Amino acid sequence: MDAELNMKYAHIVGWGSFWPDKILTNDDIANIVDTSDDWIFARTGIRERRIAGEGETTATLAFEAAARALVVAGLHPSQLDMIIVATSTPEYIFPSTASRVQDYLGAARAGAFDLSAACSGFVYALNMAAQAIATGSIRNAVVIGSETMSRVLDWEDRGTCILFGDGAGAVVLRGSSIPGGVMASELRSDGSGGDLLRLPAVYHNPVPALGPEYLGNGHKHNTIAMDGRQVFRFATRVLYQSILNVLKKADLNIDDVALFVPHQANVRIIQHVAKKLKVPMEKFYLNVERAGNTSAASIPMALCDAIEDGRLRPDDNVVFIGFGGGLTWAASVVKWDVTPPEVTRLDREWKRTRYIVARGRSKVRRWGRRMEAYLTGSPTPDARLRDAEKEKKLPPS
Ligand code: UT7
Repeated sequence: MDAELNMKYAHIVGWGSFWPDKILTNDDIANIVDTSDDWIFARTGIRERRIAGEGETTATLAFEAAARALVVAGLHPSQLDMIIVATSTPEYIFPSTASRVQDYLGAARAGAFDLSAACSGFVYALNMAAQAIATGSIRNAVVIGSETMSRVLDWEDRGTCILFGDGAGAVVLRGSSIPGGVMASELRSDGSGGDLLRLPAVYHNPVPALGPEYLGNGHKHNTIAMDGRQVFRFATRVLYQSILNVLKKADLNIDDVALFVPHQANVRIIQHVAKKLKVPMEKFYLNVERAGNTSAASIPMALCDAIEDGRLRPDDNVVFIGFGGGLTWAASVVKWDVTPPEVTRLDREWKRTRYIVARGRSKVRRWGRRMEAYLTGSPTPDARLRDAEKEKKLPPS
């Protein structure tokens, strides 16, 4: 068979994460709501989390993580066929965060879309990209989890605002004829538990003719609401079975797994699952103490830390497990087969210049659209949007 047509194994060949500079400690949060470092650490294992700064968005965090992953993979953005961003905190419903990342990267040949499966999103996205590679429809993909959770938290709700943080992580998947890479996945959902963890996407426009009772359903819009105890119970129930199911699909036993990289929500949930599986806690990689719960970003961010800590060697089997809103949960088994390359600082800096070029190209395209509008006597796209916003009385974007 033609080698090009047989590139069905989706290998992880690059990885990168981005942590915003600003650190918010438990003590800082204790100045905002009635809580304490002792309580938060004892109940969750979290000490601190990162908060996105001015000018940082879910898209810029995603871009930074993807750019780093491409350097490790030694791939040029123009070689990408697909960009998926798993996120629950996009700045826009459309354009997707992934399309913005595509523009920042200058990935001219890539399709791009966002994937919404809350904290399970990264594992879902990994499976989607791996399947596209397996069918031969694409060769190279970047899969990103990126979140700015701090912007959708109710900072008066101590049940949620203590948990979450901001950040991004990415992996590059590349088709290969060598067996390995993403070997099996299990994706699940139970929508009947949707109300246990939710984030309304849009403000519900009042319908004046129908009166104020049509304004909404009593919860605050655009901030997270959660029934923590129920979510805790759900997580401990499904994770154990999901891990066993996915290992069975990959024809592996629990002892064949070198490392579990779980969604970093709460150390107690992981301890519970480890005990049930009779697996030592050392086999579960944790960075929740420093990162908090970064939702879809947590698994790829933890993976990057695990690699940096030397926790993965060629031929290791690694299991990713996510769970969260939807309710959703998902697991994947990956055969790890890459020795981390040496990436010099010079190499990194040199490769970044291409993104300056991509920004320039994007500006030229926008400028071209304006020129075309000018020459054909039609209003510029910006002016048309301004008029539409005025007409609809929408706040300017
Ligand atoms: O990405 C997936 C998303 N979510 C999760 O994984 C969350 C899963 N759930 C959890 O992690 C835990 O349920 C929490 C950490 C959110 C809460 O821990 P808990 O042990 O389930 O606490 P609880 O809600 O049962 O509350 C116990 C007590 C209550 O006081 P009373 O009624 O016993 O007097 C709460 O009012 O702790 C109180 N409490 C707090 N106290 C200090 C709740 N939140 C806080 C707080 N600081 N931040």
